[in-house]
Amino acid sequence: MSTTSVASTREHRITVRTLAARKRRGERIAMLTAYDFAFARIFDQSGIDVLLVGDSLGNVVQGHDTTLPVTMDESVYHTRLVTRGCRRALVVGDMPFGSYQVSPEDAVRNAIRFVKEGGAQAVKLEGGVAMAETIARITRAEIPVMGHVGLTPQAVHRMGGFRVQGRSADEASQVLADAEAVQQAGAFAVVLEGMPAELAAEITRKLEIPTIGIGAGPECDGQVLVLHDMLGLNDWTPAFVKQYADLGAATARAARAFAEDVAAQKFPAEEHCYKAR
Ligand code: KIV
Repeated sequence: MSTTSVASTREHRITVRTLAARKRRGERIAMLTAYDFAFARIFDQSGIDVLLVGDSLGNVVQGHDTTLPVTMDESVYHTRLVTRGCRRALVVGDMPFGSYQVSPEDAVRNAIRFVKEGGAQAVKLEGGVAMAETIARITRAEIPVMGHVGLTPQAVHRMGGFRVQGRSADEASQVLADAEAVQQAGAFAVVLEGMPAELAAEITRKLEIPTIGIGAGPECDGQVLVLHDMLGLNDWTPAFVKQYADLGAATARAARAFAEDVAAQKFPAEEHCYKAR
């Protein structure tokens, strides 16, 4: 296959270059988390640009209080399910706690697993200045890296809880320095989580790479939400989330109706039964 035909078979795929162009043109980027084939396919066909296989799977899929227990094998497994449902969106595998903090070599090895075994086109990791060398090393291994600064859930114990970051002047300069370090290290985009909208707006103006906000106000180059939050599948909704559907209530109604039909012997009805030849 020539390089031209390779390019033409992939021309509708969102790439890191597409996202850079979006920032230059002032066009926003829509990113959602996904953890399986079914949701990935729906989101991919609905114009979502980036699907993040977030380590939030620890919370919303596995039921943990934090993302810390998520393992590499679990993350790669969920990434594989998502990439199978994706034709257009850029798939980003989220590096779980412990998979990139020990050494840059370890980080590169684990990032490669996301691409080789999971089929992801990029990885995401949390941290700014302290992770710059690691981001540079993964990027040098030809794997695009999305940074993540501000409220970084894997640092829950250092932060003393899931606290908004950058409210004081000192904290704000640290978050800005982190975002600049991530860009300098070669990241193609950066998630800004849990910070005042003014700070996210300033970072977005200063950086050349796209910023993707969550709880970071409207001035970011893109926005990301966790699918269970935006579809009403959790039992509470954080203040920064807009809930676009109530699948939790719809699912409970469907389950109750099914149980009632079974009890009343209304299901299966004749149209649901196979006939003998
Ligand atoms: O794991 C995740 O879902 C995330 C998003 C909140 C950005 O990191």
